[in-house]
Amino acid sequence: MTSKIEELRQRFNSEISSADSHQAIENLRIEYLGRKGALRDLLSQMASLPAEEKPKAGILINEFKNELTAALDKKASEFKTASVSKNPSEYFDITMPGVSQEAGRKHPLTQVTEEICDIFTRMGFETVQGPQIETEYYNFEALNIPINHPSRDAFDTFYLDLKPQKKNNKDYQWLLRSQTSTVQIRVMEKRKPPLKIIAPGRVFRPDATDASHSFMFHQIEGLLVDKKVTFAQLKNCLGSFAKQLFGSKTKTRFRPHFFPFTEPSAEVDVLCIICAGKGCRVCGQKGWLEVLGAGMVNPAVFEAVGYGPKKYTGFAFGMGVERLAMLKFGITDIRMFYENDLRFLGQF
Ligand code: PHE
Repeated sequence: MTSKIEELRQRFNSEISSADSHQAIENLRIEYLGRKGALRDLLSQMASLPAEEKPKAGILINEFKNELTAALDKKASEFKTASVSKNPSEYFDITMPGVSQEAGRKHPLTQVTEEICDIFTRMGFETVQGPQIETEYYNFEALNIPINHPSRDAFDTFYLDLKPQKKNNKDYQWLLRSQTSTVQIRVMEKRKPPLKIIAPGRVFRPDATDASHSFMFHQIEGLLVDKKVTFAQLKNCLGSFAKQLFGSKTKTRFRPHFFPFTEPSAEVDVLCIICAGKGCRVCGQKGWLEVLGAGMVNPAVFEAVGYGPKKYTGFAFGMGVERLAMLKFGITDIRMFYENDLRFLGQF
């Protein structure tokens, strides 16, 4: 048996070294390991051996089989590597269309938020964040909206069923913040003026969902506190911001308004970016679009955070990111932002 194996081994070695195609290698595999191959012959010859030699012969044949398999596999893979680089079209269909790779991109709301934050960063504002779960103190009381004050109705709020927070010996309910103005208080409680911050983030209001309302949306808050801050600075800051966001020809107008935490307060309009003031569907024929709330920080707010209201002045503003993004991209339904439809998201 040993000599028969040795004889086969020599023949195999010389044949495999001269195999020069994939087919030749596969033919050898069949010749030696196939159903009618040389190995099969050896196994059938085992039957005529004396019983005591059989186990040893079995082991030898098995080892030989493993040796052949390994040699064939090695040769086949060497051959493939060599010939793929010589002649790729034999292995690959180079006429097949490629598989396209979808590139990820930022959500349109993220893009607009970043653009707005960049504009204010260039004007020297620092971006900060505050918690989405807040208490009545931060969402109302410290912002000069006392309990039972009718202006609370203007900021409909989701309340949370949690044990109230004790602060200054009073109980304050937990809630989802309905405005990012909460971050004004959070920052002023911790730091001393001068301050120049913006705070982007989510806010929540129990509005019925429709094309222009969502129970969750995004705001960006701004706050500047220093000595001798004027309304003229506020006008300049927001006018410059609107020009950078909507283009250098953008006009802004300040309309008197009321917010409990600013005095005087204003709503800020930009000349309609669709019709340039002529009147269209987007601006409701008014020629102007309301984009911001703003005003001079109410001294009552400074008192709540322990700033000397005589010493410091400041301005604050707040804007809705969805609304600005809808105007900028011409989107007519706010719900599109939250549906995660790739056909929509892929357009920005
Ligand atoms: N917090 C106000 C709102 O949600 C916007 C605002 C912020 C107005 C800061 C004035 C100053 O409507």
